[in-house]
Amino acid sequence: MNTPETQPMVRTVQSTQSEMTEIILPNDTNMLGNLLGGRLMHFIDLTGAMAAYRHARTHVVTASMDHIDFIQPVRLGDLVTLRSSVNRAFSRSLEVGVQVWAENTRTGAVAHVASAYLVLVAVDEHGRLQSVPQVKAETPDEIRRYDDALRRREHREREKARRKEAQLATASLTDGGTAPR
Ligand SMILES: CC(C)(COP(=O)(O)OP(=O)(O)OC[C@H]1O[C@@H](n2cnc3c(N)ncnc32)[C@H](O)[C@@H]1OP(=O)(O)O)[C@@H](O)C(=O)NCCC(=O)NCCS
Repeated sequence: MNTPETQPMVRTVQSTQSEMTEIILPNDTNMLGNLLGGRLMHFIDLTGAMAAYRHARTHVVTASMDHIDFIQPVRLGDLVTLRSSVNRAFSRSLEVGVQVWAENTRTGAVAHVASAYLVLVAVDEHGRLQSVPQVKAETPDEIRRYDDALRRREHREREKARRKEAQLATASLTDGGTAPR
């Protein structure tokens, strides 16, 4: 375990790469024999956290999971492999990208079935926010994801501000504008 004194200032994307494989059992599926979306989100959350732990080397909590694309269904009996890495770190938060692949165990065919971006926030054992090392993006793909992560963060911040404004507007309509702000 790194102490704050030994925690490096920068980590490579490669050092955060994580992978998990699951076999899809009846309990994971709906009536059509397809993997449940919520179960897949659980796997995505776990694999995302693995990359975040490798980067932050402290506790992390999921702040948001956005932009999940369910590209095609995963079938009962498939092997699902999830791969994650940290795209970019900010001050106390970091963005992780997760890609999901399904393998048909009989034919061996492999398909990309889902992708997601998660933001995780570093905290200590008391839940206090912690700084995270910065990310060193080395390959062209890592650099593209690093640049895109900033655009997604700006988009999330605009969305957050827009939702807050909408909530305030709704509150002032329902209380006649009398509630304290
Ligand atoms: C995530 C959490 C720690 C943020 O705490 P907070 O006091 O609101 O933090 P701040 O507003 O000071 O933001 C701290 C960092 O988190 C980021 N952040 C906070 N909420 C976020 C959100 N909804 N989406 C993306 N990033 C978020 C901020 O951008 C900031 O990043 P930076 O320091 O790198 O610039 C807090 O909201 C929390 O504990 N949430 C519950 C987490 C949890 O239980 N997850 C599992 C869900 S089942």
